[in-house]
Amino acid sequence: MEIIHLSDLHYGSAEFKEKCFENIIEYIAGYKSKIDLVIITGDITDHGRYEEYEGIKRYIDRIPTEKLIVPGNHDISKNGAGKINYETFFGSTTTTNISKKSNCLALGICSAKDGIAISEIGDQQLRYIAEQYLNNSEKRKILALHHHLIAVPYSSKSLNIPIDAGEVLEILRMFEIELVLMGHRHVPHVWTLNGTTFLYCGTSTSGKVRANEPPCFNHIYMDDFELEVDIVDSYSLNKQPLLRRTPKDVNFIKYRKARIEYLLHAKILG
Ligand SMILES: [Fe+2]
Repeated sequence: MEIIHLSDLHYGSAEFKEKCFENIIEYIAGYKSKIDLVIITGDITDHGRYEEYEGIKRYIDRIPTEKLIVPGNHDISKNGAGKINYETFFGSTTTTNISKKSNCLALGICSAKDGIAISEIGDQQLRYIAEQYLNNSEKRKILALHHHLIAVPYSSKSLNIPIDAGEVLEILRMFEIELVLMGHRHVPHVWTLNGTTFLYCGTSTSGKVRANEPPCFNHIYMDDFELEVDIVDSYSLNKQPLLRRTPKDVNFIKYRKARIEYLLHAKILG
């Protein structure tokens, strides 16, 4: 199974990079027969305006595969009508994709609050995801949301984690969720915990990058035993490995200098 993970497109911002989107469409088209799903983890627009949704939909519609999209805080919280505009163009903010070919259930949930700058999943969605996972216990399971469930170093202390992140982590552990995809702080990263891989995507099509990373996206390869992730530069389309995970071993290939290294003024990671 192969998944392309895009995030934080920020269409409508002066920093939106059309060239990156064109490159991504070309990249996906080149792997079309192999890619099961493209997942976009929010902030598809910069301010949730009607015209922005109209513009980004034209781009997203050109991606020639199945897609699962969730909204981010820029889509929902920045504008009183952001949620209504999102639903007008992309339908429900809670979505399900079941791939028969790869026997996989991917769920997308909304972690942004309408007009408020806090993140919450809420009881209704918690119940929904628990029910979906319970009723599809034999399938591989993926969850997509915008906000970070677990903090990422060197991604700014102003990030907001959903106030009910603990309940989500409990569901992930109960139902043995294999993979969680997130965006939000524009920092490519990965954690592994209790058998779940928590994967974060950078901004795929904007100049709103942190540190010196380029706009990028994740290419995920999964088989019955292994999970691999490459980070792909949205300009050059060059790939860099981020994670190789087997049942016995987690090989976390850290390409980003950790904040702890700055604090110690020493290189402690390979
Ligand atoms: Fe963003």
